Amino acid sequence: MQNKRHIVNIALIGFMGTGKTSVGKLVAEQLHFDYLDTDEMIQSATGKTIAEIFKNEGEKNFRELEEKVVEEISVRTKTVVSTGGGLPVNPNNLATLKSHALVVCLWASPEKIWERVKNQSHRPLLHDENPQQKIRELLAAREPFYKKADVLLNTELRSLREVAQQVVHQFRLESARR
Ligand code: S3P
Repeated sequence: MQNKRHIVNIALIGFMGTGKTSVGKLVAEQLHFDYLDTDEMIQSATGKTIAEIFKNEGEKNFRELEEKVVEEISVRTKTVVSTGGGLPVNPNNLATLKSHALVVCLWASPEKIWERVKNQSHRPLLHDENPQQKIRELLAAREPFYKKADVLLNTELRSLREVAQQVVHQFRLESARR
């Protein structure tokens, strides 16, 4: 898959609370690209919220829906896609994204992530007795997958706008190389 890459899109991967949605929208605006969000695609295809899918059908089912939308996105051009935090753990998803998109991972420490998500309640995986511990565990388990991105961007000391600028810059570098 890797050597047949035709990079016309940008995919943002990374843990919950790293700013994928906000940054993705800013990047799409700057490049005049379309914007997609895998969670939103799943919600509109099923008519259910992510929390409802987790609760009624289970995480496995949700992961299958994720793989399906990743396939759908592969026909797009000039699109920025923000992905759910667990999506790159499935190697098929990362391979599909890499075939058409520059894959950028937004990174932050567990402490920073907790600070950003603690007042939000829509993420089923953080409905846990000890959400801080859960963040540390999930992040550690996912780190090797996130590190397979083309570009790793630490978001801690940058504003959302600065992160978006970096993503645009990396995409332009990539386009210039082709
Ligand atoms: C998940 C992250 C969520 C959403 C779902 C599962 C995860 O997306 O896909 O709740 O496994 O980390 P965000 O990363 O946009 O919060």
